[in-house]
Amino acid sequence: MTASPAIAAPSQPLDAAALAAHIAADPGLSAFFGADMANLSIREIGDGNLNFVFHVAGGGRALAIKQAMPYSRMSGGARALTAERLTYEKLALEEFARHAPAHVPAIHHFDAERALLGQEFLSPHVIMRKGMMDGVVYPHFAEHMAAYLSACLFATSDFALTASDKRRKVARFAGNVELCEITERLVFTEPFTLSDNNRWTSPELDAEAAAIRGDEVLKQAVSALKLAFLTRSDALLHADLHTGSIMLTETDTRVIDPEFAVFGPMGFDIGMLIGNLFLNCFAQLAYETEPGGRAAYRAFVLGAVEEIWTGFAARFAALWREKRTGDAYPMRLFPEAAALEAVLARYLQDVLADALGFAGVEMIRRTLGRAHTPDYDAITDRQRRCLSEKLALSHGVMLLRAPRGGMSMTEATDAARRLIGAAPGR
Ligand SMILES: Nc1ncnc2c1ncn2[C@@H]1O[C@H](COP(=O)(O)OP(=O)(O)OP(=O)(O)O)[C@@H](O)[C@H]1O
Ligand SMILES: [Mg+2]
Repeated sequence: MTASPAIAAPSQPLDAAALAAHIAADPGLSAFFGADMANLSIREIGDGNLNFVFHVAGGGRALAIKQAMPYSRMSGGARALTAERLTYEKLALEEFARHAPAHVPAIHHFDAERALLGQEFLSPHVIMRKGMMDGVVYPHFAEHMAAYLSACLFATSDFALTASDKRRKVARFAGNVELCEITERLVFTEPFTLSDNNRWTSPELDAEAAAIRGDEVLKQAVSALKLAFLTRSDALLHADLHTGSIMLTETDTRVIDPEFAVFGPMGFDIGMLIGNLFLNCFAQLAYETEPGGRAAYRAFVLGAVEEIWTGFAARFAALWREKRTGDAYPMRLFPEAAALEAVLARYLQDVLADALGFAGVEMIRRTLGRAHTPDYDAITDRQRRCLSEKLALSHGVMLLRAPRGGMSMTEATDAARRLIGAAPGR
């Protein structure tokens, strides 16, 4: 696919001089950095697969300026990808800022033609995945993510929006097909079949990978979840909500990088997030320098999984009861809130069932598919990495094979605790 004619992004990323010239020529940006334009400090800091990110500092202020090229960064230009993804990121950040302003970075600049997005530079925040690998406890993380998820998912659903507003928003994000295609293929399809893109720790995990490829029950469960992703438009998703898309301190939590944003099943965002937390929990075993050295950290991670769900459900229920201004289950049909409690409970049970399934998919695809996570890539002891990977696969398989709707979040975390407790060498 070629770049959209609407966005004629350049073929080379900006160098510092070109970015400085762009800043100097833009009244908003030059006002942001003040008079001292000659002393701007500009550094490329991107560590992702798709885009370039520049840290720009001057006059005591800083921005993260993201540049999307009409290809993926990782491919070095070989894999075309329209730079329009940055427009979706901007639209999603604006939408999420309306509902959870405390948990997204502020936007200071957007240039569609050059595919540049200037955001508040988050500091001293770190990428959550890194903090977790270092064993840093974030006491408010779960509460903040419950607040972010409930506010954003409720406000962009039919429970909050009129049907016309909802349809307009769905249409606005429906064009994000290229990034959705990445999810559909890399998350839901390739890891469950043979593909040149897959990689896993071989030969140690060959048997597990073959068993998953041959598991009809599991593949049908994955396909049902994929169909939900393809067809449903419950709410606007971040759609890439892993621990590499969260920057935080002990008191402040921000969700960055919603370039995959699209309407889809609410459980997708919740499931991706908790799937990455489970992945990290199993990886923690391999970080221990003495037996049990990361036990307290694992307890924090599994506690966070539980708290994200209970916090989400409680907040979502409160919004449903008090702020249901949309076309679904309209208040005027149901003046007695109590009459709908059973409907609400069933709805949340469905979201939970989806979330647990998506978490299972995420754990398997990060172990057998193309995109792995640094939590595991950083483990140099092969035997330990294999053990953690096998636990992640077992847990993911269990989540997907469980009868739909038959598992609570605490049962899912307890299953992780049992797997770790029974692991060899425990
Ligand atoms: N607002 C910000 N403040 C500070 N640092 C940031 C900000 N946005 C991004 N970064 C840094 O840049 C890195 C890459 O950003 P981001 O994840 O948005 O890029 P990406 O290319 O879309 O990544 P991916 O391939 O994971 O999708 C982040 O890991 C983080 O270190
Ligand atoms: Mg990204």
